[in-house]
Amino acid sequence: MELDWLLALPLPENMPRQRVLYHRLREAILSGRLAAGTRLPASRSLATSLKLARNTVLFAYEQLVAEGCLLADRQGTRVALLPVCAMGPSSSGRGTAVPLKLSSRAAAALQPEPAREAAVLPFAPGTPDYGAFPFRTWRACLERAWRDAGWRQLGYAAHGGDPALRAAMAAHLTTIRGLAVDPAQIVITSGTQAALDLCARLLADHGDTVWVENPGYLAARVAFGLAGLRVHDIPVDSEGLAPSEEDWRGHSPRLIMITPSHQYPTGRVMSLSRRLSLIERARQASAWIIEDDYDSEFRRTGPAPPALFGLQPDVPVVYVGTFSKTLYPGLRLGYLVLPHAIAADFARATTQATRPGQGVEQRALADFIERGYYTAHLRRMRARYGARQVALRIALKAAFGRSVELSGGEAGLHLVMWLPEGICDTEVAARAAALGLGVRALGSYTRAPMTCNGLVLGYGNLEEGMIAEAVQRLVVAVESQVIPPHEN
Ligand SMILES: Cc1ncc(COP(=O)(O)O)c(C=O)c1O
Repeated sequence: MELDWLLALPLPENMPRQRVLYHRLREAILSGRLAAGTRLPASRSLATSLKLARNTVLFAYEQLVAEGCLLADRQGTRVALLPVCAMGPSSSGRGTAVPLKLSSRAAAALQPEPAREAAVLPFAPGTPDYGAFPFRTWRACLERAWRDAGWRQLGYAAHGGDPALRAAMAAHLTTIRGLAVDPAQIVITSGTQAALDLCARLLADHGDTVWVENPGYLAARVAFGLAGLRVHDIPVDSEGLAPSEEDWRGHSPRLIMITPSHQYPTGRVMSLSRRLSLIERARQASAWIIEDDYDSEFRRTGPAPPALFGLQPDVPVVYVGTFSKTLYPGLRLGYLVLPHAIAADFARATTQATRPGQGVEQRALADFIERGYYTAHLRRMRARYGARQVALRIALKAAFGRSVELSGGEAGLHLVMWLPEGICDTEVAARAAALGLGVRALGSYTRAPMTCNGLVLGYGNLEEGMIAEAVQRLVVAVESQVIPPHEN
């Protein structure tokens, strides 16, 4: 039998030669090119005609016999009778092809993404100071955790996460955030994103409505969209989320996602009266409020406003925190604080939904908090980010004039610079990207009919000494968008 074509086809990259014959034969059998019952040449003669070692042919035959593609008996080797698969575009006429793409729900929910490297460019939002991370102290905590690791750390995590970490976080939140929290109310997650995903799946049903802030945190929209929720945009004003009567009546929410300590991205702080009325209306609507308290650790002007979670007893609020900004995002650890009534069920459901782990990292983090390193690191970073923000404000005012409108300075790692009409933020951001800046356009977080025109300027990973030069580049980006009067 003429089988030279088996090796004439292009070889898959990096495939060891020994496996090529096996793969080619398997492809030919599964696609029907070698029909059921076809007798294959004896291994010695195939090896001679293909100029291969006999062992290569034997390997291919034995492997294919073991998989059920070939049958070997006293008369030799022949192709087994198998359902023939339609393989490749040339055979797409055979039956309905599975669409080789993500679901339409995923396609609708996913967002355009900046390149990974953009996260370390000057002004990239959401990035902590990687250089200031206490590597040595953290490594010592990890080493201790590994030294003491047993089956509890190497197996799946306990319901709700490592007990020591839950206890350490409860004590930390009570001291730093004034929340009377019991460790049993805490569920450790793989960051905020996993927490939002869990809330979507465990607190809402498919097709329920979730309110998100407009402008708002894009990753939250992704989590909710992927979970099959109806995402409804609510405008944000100077006091925070501002739903209308029409929103309450016509788009009654099951979940309401907010960032009240430092609205992302505008940086505004939700007023107390807005917090209280939101709780009241959420109760009436049987809705859960998801309070993403990211960045509250980096509050500069006095203590952070009280969290909705602790404002009244039994509030329908789930509190979300993360170590992505306070330590580093790749750690993938965050937490939920839940009302007593659902905490145990939520912890159990989290175990079943995600099979969580990271026992060693969780134990190291508990150690890091218990020894006071976390609080000391936060104190140091708060001062550092505060100084950076002051330097950035001064540089922006010097470059764009004293009347330039800045917001979001009370907490966090970014400022918003509002742009006057006539200068388009997305065009400035594109120009800035070409100049090596990671600035984001406020418009990219905004959905119609809401309009916002400004720049989100992250300074978490921007050394003070680099601010002046980065602002000069920003001036070039903005000026390139200013239309000279004679062109109007
Ligand atoms: C509003 C907001 N919440 C939370 C996070 C942190 O998300 P994660 O914990 O998934 O890293 C970010 C990160 O940029 C954020 O902007």
